[in-house]
Amino acid sequence: PRGAGRTDDGAVTIGGIAVDELADTYGTPLFVYDENDFRSRCADMQAAFGPHGRVHYASKAFLSLEVARWVQSEGLSLDVCTGGELAIALRADFPAERIAMHGNNKSEAELDYALESRIGHIVVDSMFEIERLDRLAGARGMVADVLIRVTPGVEAHTHEFISTAHEDQKFGFALAGGIAMNAIREVFASDNLRLVGLHSHIGSQIFEIDGFELAAHRVLGLLADVVAEFGVEKTKQIEVLDLGGGLGISYIPSEDPPPVADLAASLVEIVRRESERLGLPMPSIAVEPGRAIAGPAGVTVYRVGTIKDVQLDGAATRRYVSVDGGMSDNIRTVLYDAEYDVRLANRVSNAQAVVCRVVGKHCESGDIVVRDCWLPVDLMPGDLLVVGATGAYCYSMSSRYNMAPRAAVAAVHDGASRLMLRRETVEDFLSLEVQP
Ligand code: LLP
Repeated sequence: PRGAGRTDDGAVTIGGIAVDELADTYGTPLFVYDENDFRSRCADMQAAFGPHGRVHYASKAFLSLEVARWVQSEGLSLDVCTGGELAIALRADFPAERIAMHGNNKSEAELDYALESRIGHIVVDSMFEIERLDRLAGARGMVADVLIRVTPGVEAHTHEFISTAHEDQKFGFALAGGIAMNAIREVFASDNLRLVGLHSHIGSQIFEIDGFELAAHRVLGLLADVVAEFGVEKTKQIEVLDLGGGLGISYIPSEDPPPVADLAASLVEIVRRESERLGLPMPSIAVEPGRAIAGPAGVTVYRVGTIKDVQLDGAATRRYVSVDGGMSDNIRTVLYDAEYDVRLANRVSNAQAVVCRVVGKHCESGDIVVRDCWLPVDLMPGDLLVVGATGAYCYSMSSRYNMAPRAAVAAVHDGASRLMLRRETVEDFLSLEVQP
């Protein structure tokens, strides 16, 4: 996070607090979020897009009641994609009109919950869903605001599992073959749905802004088709162009993501030019960053348990450093070959650095937190390691594998810390058993 540092004794500090103090207070493994860092990324994102922007924080990256309150007080909107995320947002008193709901397979109950809660809009993803939402809104005597998710056919240069706008995947309506246009006709024909925007999301952890630019051009091309078929007056109700999330962050020092201001300036310019040409008022440009806000704001603190040198072919050895968490709190390394920066956190060592692999405590050899890194040769059991930029998609994708309790999550703010989510206990597991 911004403002991380070291104490005079050499311990890493986050938000002005030494990591060893946090570990003593809350135990390990521990997620620590720097509130100032999180909030400043919200504010930067908002400032970059200016009055044309509507920034929705993608809550799938990480959500808790307190995080929802940070997002709300920074003036952002919120994306949810399940009834669970919606429930947390509402419990945090997040204003319903600033919530949007996504998902390729929202259940009837989830759609109805969204309607009942009067959230801002729902992003529809299939013909079945348009029919379903039309019926549910009709039954409630409501008109639901919707965005249509289109698949612009852009190949984002990212991991296959997190790239979403090429044609052969499950999300959205293809631009090709007039599929998206059919969806627009369907929504226009409904008395219970009001089309207020078009949506595209090309993937995640993206470093090149040209993918976003291309997606914007293609979505604007669809808008031009709408003008051609329905006329300017009717098309004016499409007042939001949502270009999704996906802006990449730096996990390791060599990675250099593009500044959000560059992306924003370019998108605003493209949308301004094209909407003018079509004789339409300037639409709002929505974006849905998750990782770019939450990722750098969070770190994971682990305690080293054992260290083992394993003989490889030839004379080489590999040092395995086992920590007290692993794939249950960070599945990203094994799932996406993700890379992370890891540091000794409780002291400074001037010892020589050796190549290490940081692994977890789970019962499989794929349980790797950091595949290759340099750590001091005098690293000892009991030392603390801090893994950076784990604020997005780590806790939210965590599991109870091996009945490892989910880690605690603390927040730091100007030299003070507090617990946001307590560590899970065996009692929590037992609470699900029907016959305890
Ligand atoms: N909007 C939509 C419709 C999305 O599907 C996503 C992410 C976002 C926004 C937020 O994207 P972001 O700004 O965070 O890149 N578990 C993967 C990431 C999956 C992202 C899924 N959708 C990971 O750990 O890298």
